[in-house]
Amino acid sequence: MNHNYTELGLVNTKEMFAQAMQGKYAVPAYNFNNMEQLQAIVTGCAQSGSPVILQVSGSARKYADPIFLPYMVQGAVAMARDIGSSIPIALHLDHGSSFEQAKDCIDSGFSSVMIDGSHHSFEENIKVTAEVVEYAHTFDVTVEGELGVLAGVEDEVSSEVSHYTRPEEVEEFVEKTGVDSLAISIGTSHGAHKFKLAPGELPPPLRFDILEEIEKRLPGFPIVLHGASSVTPKHVDMINEFGGNLESAVGIPVDQLRRAAGSAVCKINIDSDGRLAMTAVIRKVFAQSPAEFDPRKYLGPARDELITLIKEKNENVLGSAGKF
Ligand code: G3H
Ligand code: 13P
Ligand code: ZN
Repeated sequence: MNHNYTELGLVNTKEMFAQAMQGKYAVPAYNFNNMEQLQAIVTGCAQSGSPVILQVSGSARKYADPIFLPYMVQGAVAMARDIGSSIPIALHLDHGSSFEQAKDCIDSGFSSVMIDGSHHSFEENIKVTAEVVEYAHTFDVTVEGELGVLAGVEDEVSSEVSHYTRPEEVEEFVEKTGVDSLAISIGTSHGAHKFKLAPGELPPPLRFDILEEIEKRLPGFPIVLHGASSVTPKHVDMINEFGGNLESAVGIPVDQLRRAAGSAVCKINIDSDGRLAMTAVIRKVFAQSPAEFDPRKYLGPARDELITLIKEKNENVLGSAGKF
């Protein structure tokens, strides 16, 4: 089923990023797969007056159902407007893996897509990214490309090892592809186990020197940070307390993310923190009320916890609260 994103009440990321760059904050990109996550993200952002990018991976889209998904999002936008919120809302494909997939998303109502060619050669990455940009821009859909590889699972794209973005490649990539934003690798990684640390050891700082070099080469150009969950200790502890096993889970320290948000980083991707928050609460309900079997009794509190997390992130990490 084809949709134009404007019919769904969505916007692309162009203006969002221009405002974030000027206001020295980052727009949150929260991943979702289901109704409760989507409601929590939109409610949390509407209540905190933050722009939001609703982010869906290829497998999340399959899970939610590609036909069903645009209607879910349309409903979420209507819900935000009903509580009097005018926050801009984008729908974005996370880690798109092919031209065909990106095209399918654009045709079905996405306002923004990522084409992740970072695992290809530089030339191949340019080729596939430029192809997506050409199609996307016909419909005023914005495109995110990636240079450098993050460790961890990136949906259909996964990597055991990371390598940092090479600043000397960024100008040629942006010029030859026409992308609207660029995801870079400066030490973040996907998932809940971002670093292997010895007891008492702190996570290594992000490579702000690389980011600064990229900013010099691409003045005013929107940069994206993936793998930016902090892996909230409160939720990891709750999961472990109520029967889970997430030993040695560790994320990106909040002060590092705050610093990034004040730079050319205009979009910060957060998935794992939301998953942890919901899982922690669901485990707690199951542990404390083993006879409970009404999904609303565990999904409801999990959704509330996610709303709280999102408001807290927008306020204290992204700096995006109160902008709308
Ligand atoms: O970067 C990957 C995102 O966290 C999406 O993960 O493919 O399991 O939906 P997923
Ligand atoms: P986290 O696993 O750190 O939440 O990263 C999510 C992400 O980058 C989605 O693209
Ligand atoms: Zn990612």
